[in-house]
Amino acid sequence: MKGGNFNRARGKHLPFTLLIIICMTILLWSYERKPTDTSILSTQDQFVLPTSEVFKVASQISGDLVKPQDRPAKESLAVHEETGDQPKLHITEESDKYSASSSEKKAVCDYAKGRWVLDSTRPLYSGFKCKRWLSEMWACRLTQRPDFGYEAYRWQPENCYMPDFERSAFLKRMQDKTIAFVGDSLGRQQFQSLMCMVTGGEESTEVEDVGSEYGLIAPEGAFRPDGWAFRFPETNTTILYYWSSCLCDLEPLNATDPATEVAMHLDRPPSFLERFLDRFDVLILNTGHHWNRGKLRANRWVMYVNGKPNQDKRLAPMGSAKNFTIFNIARWVDSQLPSHPRLKAFFRTISPRHFFNGEWNTGGSCENTTPLARGSEVKQDESSDPVISSAVRDTKLKLLDITALSHLRDEGHLSRYSVKAAVGIQDCLHWCLPGIPDTWNEILAAQV
Ligand SMILES: *[C@@H]1O[C@H](CO)[C@@H](O)[C@H](O)[C@H]1NC(C)=O
Ligand SMILES: *[C@@H]1O[C@H](CO)[C@@H](O)[C@H](O)[C@H]1NC(C)=O
Ligand SMILES: *[C@@H]1O[C@H](CO)[C@@H](O)[C@H](O)[C@H]1NC(C)=O
Repeated sequence: MKGGNFNRARGKHLPFTLLIIICMTILLWSYERKPTDTSILSTQDQFVLPTSEVFKVASQISGDLVKPQDRPAKESLAVHEETGDQPKLHITEESDKYSASSSEKKAVCDYAKGRWVLDSTRPLYSGFKCKRWLSEMWACRLTQRPDFGYEAYRWQPENCYMPDFERSAFLKRMQDKTIAFVGDSLGRQQFQSLMCMVTGGEESTEVEDVGSEYGLIAPEGAFRPDGWAFRFPETNTTILYYWSSCLCDLEPLNATDPATEVAMHLDRPPSFLERFLDRFDVLILNTGHHWNRGKLRANRWVMYVNGKPNQDKRLAPMGSAKNFTIFNIARWVDSQLPSHPRLKAFFRTISPRHFFNGEWNTGGSCENTTPLARGSEVKQDESSDPVISSAVRDTKLKLLDITALSHLRDEGHLSRYSVKAAVGIQDCLHWCLPGIPDTWNEILAAQV
């Protein structure tokens, strides 16, 4: 009996030890899993699938046959070995994706890859109503245009979660912050788009015009100021735009003679940026379409380097001058970041143009009205804008990569409804608003 008792006791004891081990294991397990158990993360995790899963889904959607082992880590490594760049950074990013906390996961998310999907909640504001913030020439709802299918799509990044744009949440996050767009007219489109998104297209009379705080007032006799700045009093958020089509410093060679030539200092940031960078929390730069001889001649701009007319033959080709300037501004902003710890700086990639059968001035047109006629998906890993993506590589600037996804949207331009339509000029460069630039802002909002 005793022995039996002993045996029973030992028999009881063994399962008990086992039970403890099992409990500890489960406990440890669930502790490790905890970060993925919160509701926000589980939504995100639906999109951060294991690579092979992402692949299955992607190939189901596209019908393409691509093997999982062709995936990111190896591919980017190979690319960087070819260009001779240090691949180290990319490897780290890839491995971080699976070990980092959720916010870091978001930081490495590639918003440029994904697809356009129909969404009945689009557009985010009305093109009839958003009159205070939107230039009439860009509000296609106010033109004769009969088709608006292009308004009905949302961008869905492939393997990361992008929250829907919600204006009060956005403003709250941007409490006491200043968002500055600096660039050409495509930057101005993105600025107007954001104003419409944040106001919901309402007139919002409480929003203050604070242009004078930034010297953004039209000089006497001028057609318009060099930019605009508005403040939302309830959150003290400022959104502004400054026109700088070259992201370089422009200096009239004779300030008292309006017909004089203008020095275009390729190696100097726009003086506006130098003057006000201290006040910015988010900066979005863009340039691209003004880098052609016609624009330079029309503006009487003369390239200067080192404070003197450019003598360097290597910079004479327009593409080289553009590349030189883009690298310069990216390096200059990067050099300012340590002393501006609040600042998040983005370089937006080029907005694609879609002139078919000619150029803008030789009858080029963009007549397609069927959304996504050229496909709905972006699958490539590398940016379609090699100049800007290589300029921000090895800096702390972020790439706002919208080129490939916008390239799929040729039906979204002003096309034959542009202000110059009467003289046979279509606009296949600027976009209807609401429209494609709204998506650029959603991708921006997901990253600030
Ligand atoms: C508004 O925000 C700016 C920073 O952008 C800050 O300097 C200023 O004190 C704020 N004003 C108020 C009334 O909170
Ligand atoms: C600048 O332009 C004014 C007006 O045309 C002219 O009188 C003046 O001589 C010019 N100054 C220089 C330094 O060229
Ligand atoms: C652009 O400029 C950078 C920096 O000067 C240079 O390393 C790169 O080769 C240039 N790229 C092109 C395409 O000219």
